[in-house]
Amino acid sequence: AGGRYDFLLMLILSVKSMAKSSSLRIVGGLSSAETGDWPWQASLQYNNVHRCGATLISNTWLVSAAHCFRDMSHPQKWTATFGALLKPPSLKRSVKTIIIHEKYRYPEHDYDIALVQLSKRVEFTSSIHRVCLPEPSETFPYNIYAVITGWGALTNDGPTPNALQEATVKLIDSNTCNKKEVYDGDITPRMLCAGYLEGGVDACQGDSGGPLVTPDSRLMWYLVGIVSWGDECAKPNKPGVYTRVTYFRDWITSKTGI
Ligand code: ARG
Repeated sequence: AGGRYDFLLMLILSVKSMAKSSSLRIVGGLSSAETGDWPWQASLQYNNVHRCGATLISNTWLVSAAHCFRDMSHPQKWTATFGALLKPPSLKRSVKTIIIHEKYRYPEHDYDIALVQLSKRVEFTSSIHRVCLPEPSETFPYNIYAVITGWGALTNDGPTPNALQEATVKLIDSNTCNKKEVYDGDITPRMLCAGYLEGGVDACQGDSGGPLVTPDSRLMWYLVGIVSWGDECAKPNKPGVYTRVTYFRDWITSKTGI
């Protein structure tokens, strides 16, 4: 820690956004992503309809949110697609196994993590490959920038875009996030808040299960969070809440060997 290249990240993202004409995305986000920008991002589809995001952590495993599978945990009906466009995807895989955290209890948001095993391995390319997982002991400083990506709604209850959206958010410390006017004590040690207390930029419905990532000093990208919940989208004092990946690092190893 310490050497996170916030400045570099902001530079990369602002150059990216200047290179395109930016408009309103992922709820106040930067812009549409391009093929290969976020190569670990997957779309999880139920009966071929996008439901949630997921992140590639090996050739055969994705990590996502447990709530994506409530009363829909039948692997046969799920597929995962890769590539920045939902239609046409650049790669599609069927799902072999879904592992929901044993302590997850709908409608609570605690332990909101699931693992999805693909029926056939994905060969990594420059545009489809895994993200790095942080060590359990890793602590990410508050206020650093991180990126969220997904095909979720562009406004609360809005439509699903075909192109992957990206936005920059800041990590918010749990004491602040647990304040009365924010989430009033609802943030557990399994959760992490990110976004802006002034509102405006956030993940939204359909982004769930997708990644919150931050680069290290070598520009290797680490999965910090999994889109989990929020009070609507992008409202002041209601930042996005993410599953804290470091808390589950050993659980991931116990289930996948990764
Ligand atoms: N639970 C939502 C979903 O199923 C995503 C919630 C994220 N909301 C937010 N405001 N950050 O897609």
